Amino acid sequence: MSDAKRGQWGSKVGFVLAAAGSAVGLGNMWKFPYITGENGGGAFVAIYLVCILLIGLPIMIGEVVLGKMTQKSPVGAFAELAGKRSPWVGVGWLGVITGFLILSYYSVVAGWAMHYVFLSVTGTFANVSPAELGQVADHFDALKANPGLNVLWHVLFMAITIGIVLAGVQKGVEVAARVLMPALLGLLIMLVLYATSLPGFGPAFDFVFGLHTERLTGAGVLEALGHSFFTLSVGMGAMLTYGSYMKRDDDVVSTSITITALDTAVALLACLALFPITFTFGMEAGAGPGLVFQSMPTAFAQMTGGSVWSTLFFLLLTFAALTSAISLLEVVASYFIDELGWKRIQAVAVTGAAITLFGIPSALGALDVFGSGMEEAIGHSWFGLMDYLTSNWMLPLGGLGLSIFVGFRIREVERAHAVADGSPLGGVLPLYLGWLQLLRFAVPAAIVAVVLHALGVL
Ligand code: PFF
Repeated sequence: MSDAKRGQWGSKVGFVLAAAGSAVGLGNMWKFPYITGENGGGAFVAIYLVCILLIGLPIMIGEVVLGKMTQKSPVGAFAELAGKRSPWVGVGWLGVITGFLILSYYSVVAGWAMHYVFLSVTGTFANVSPAELGQVADHFDALKANPGLNVLWHVLFMAITIGIVLAGVQKGVEVAARVLMPALLGLLIMLVLYATSLPGFGPAFDFVFGLHTERLTGAGVLEALGHSFFTLSVGMGAMLTYGSYMKRDDDVVSTSITITALDTAVALLACLALFPITFTFGMEAGAGPGLVFQSMPTAFAQMTGGSVWSTLFFLLLTFAALTSAISLLEVVASYFIDELGWKRIQAVAVTGAAITLFGIPSALGALDVFGSGMEEAIGHSWFGLMDYLTSNWMLPLGGLGLSIFVGFRIREVERAHAVADGSPLGGVLPLYLGWLQLLRFAVPAAIVAVVLHALGVL
């Protein structure tokens, strides 16, 4: 497709909003707190922050640069710069497949969030007596045990995502992110303020920020690395695809920094809102994927106007998931639009339907074949396997390819221009060179080291 016919952001902030919308999602409020809980808190959080700063951010800049330079989606971007038959195109392919797999289970969790909007609106978390407070968490088990309900919400969420992506780049995504991001931040800050009044705040703060290094494992370090990719939406070409809708003089560097800072703030605020509740009400920090759905409603059930707060929280969680899901589907659909010349409507409908179908086993976790039976056999449910493979292996592998490619395979003049055009920071030579060194050496070395460590080789 020619450049003229491709979508471009409607305004300078269009990219920032959409990319922030992609980054901030279930990863921040659902996954980060629960894996922090499972990995013992502070030391895991510290490793995660190091990964974000030294690995995730440099890769994000590299990805956006690649998109901005080529104005293509992942496969096309590699094909243009390395040649259609080059093995580098495989990195683009890996991204498309990763996006497909992530969305297939991501949508199931987003469906849970929608179900909780429904539960909240219908007053499930209002007027709960102290004696019954312990049962609030049971709603999650009831949902998990109901395969039909899981499938229903999953299909509904996918239908909404498909509808928005069909509307094109600018309209859907920019509008959604402009209103919802500040609302989400505002609500989280209020919830953290509430949490400071709980007796569990002190222990929670120590749990999240105290360095209890003895609790950290090699698998935990790999998970922190994988999650830094997942939460920033890097390693599979989502940021590359959004960067491809940028104009020449759009600022890559400060926008990447803004997005990373915002994403990290949301993740940490989510922990500071959630763990005080967990500790106050004697819940399990390592409760797993149900954590946010069990702890937050328990607090809402105690508040005056609990239904309203609860509805607002899960509505914003759903919207945050939606702006991320949009970027996942966009990567998969763009391949068919840009490389195979499909019409947008056809590409989005076909890939969206395929992802919906492929996600059904994830939604059917209550059935033994996809749930406990699989878990006994291979250590993961279907849902867990999708998450484990994509976050811990495919995104870091994609990130490794991207960093080496952007670091070594692009012409210096073009790379420097793409970074510096429109970007005051990108034009500062020591900063540019520092970024390039990170991308060329530190990032690949760190990824390889963590992976080898997880495999028990190092
Ligand atoms: N970053 C999203 C989140 O934290 O929920 C998930 C995600 C979106 C991952 C887009 C990867 C991606 F390309």
